[in-house]
Amino acid sequence: MMNDQLRALLRQMPKAELHIHIEGSLEPELIFALAARNGVALAYASVEQLRAAYAFEDLQSFLDIYYAGASVLLKEQDFYDMTSAYLARAAADNVRHAEIFFDPQTHTARGVPMADVINGIHRACQDSPVSATLILSFLRHLSEEDAFATLEQALPHRDKFIGIGLDSSEVGNPPEKFARVFARCRELGFHLVAHAGEEGPPAYIETALDVLHVERIDHGVRCLEDAALTQRLARQQTALTVCPLSNTKLRVFDTMAEHNLLGLLDAGLLVTVNSDDPAYFGGYMNANFAAVFEALPLGLAHAQRLARNGFIAAFLPDEVKRRYLDEVDAFFAAAAV
Ligand code: ADE
Ligand code: ZN
Repeated sequence: MMNDQLRALLRQMPKAELHIHIEGSLEPELIFALAARNGVALAYASVEQLRAAYAFEDLQSFLDIYYAGASVLLKEQDFYDMTSAYLARAAADNVRHAEIFFDPQTHTARGVPMADVINGIHRACQDSPVSATLILSFLRHLSEEDAFATLEQALPHRDKFIGIGLDSSEVGNPPEKFARVFARCRELGFHLVAHAGEEGPPAYIETALDVLHVERIDHGVRCLEDAALTQRLARQQTALTVCPLSNTKLRVFDTMAEHNLLGLLDAGLLVTVNSDDPAYFGGYMNANFAAVFEALPLGLAHAQRLARNGFIAAFLPDEVKRRYLDEVDAFFAAAAV
């Protein structure tokens, strides 16, 4: 059980969010509003019916509903409105900086122009008081050829995203399937990340590092099954973007009390806390911190370390990181008196 002071500090501390799929921030109310605005038919009669469908057994059962929800996004303004809504929630949770995934193939496959996807999301980032950058994520259930074509379509907009990621159905779609397209993205100077070790085995974390040359691992919680890999991640201080509510909703862990976040911290890993798909998994950044601190024996020092890790692992210039880290440290110093 957490005390009220810790609960308040978790809410108020400055945060960075490094693992949020913007399509996963679409709340049921906004799905229905956009469906009406765009004349898109939904398989659910009401917001309540849609929300009731959010009972997932695994990653794939979530992804099926997530891609269906994204079908209401057609116009540049839709992408703007979705992103603005997320950034308002992030600001309310004292998120100072967010690195936001978007899945262009989910939209271009439906005929939405790449320019509308990127410009809508990017314009909302520019209009927000939260510092926000974008990571284009390839869908790993599609081919590497499709990823190459997506990269080509996005390159005219390369000034609007800073990195490349890899998401969607993990098992059976190992990182090495995307070796050539990630090599190209590396030549182009993008930051690289990949989902690995969420449902997939520790070997996928290894190939994400050794074949794709990613700088961070998204999720990565299954690394603890491999002691040598865990030691390597600790030695290299490779960041893991862990998403506690996602992991319990998708049954990576059956309950939050079984989550391995404290084990990851105790192994010396650079762990961060993130929301993944907050509209689907029961909450944004503050809800994730509250849930995991409620369930595990975590205290003030863990809170400070997790807040610092978010900024340490961010793709930001060193002097900007330093400023955020000073803000975190000043926040906790003030709390201690
Ligand atoms: N796309 C959106 N959320 C995801 C997750 N948790 N894992 C893989 N792909 C995703
Ligand atoms: Zn994710």
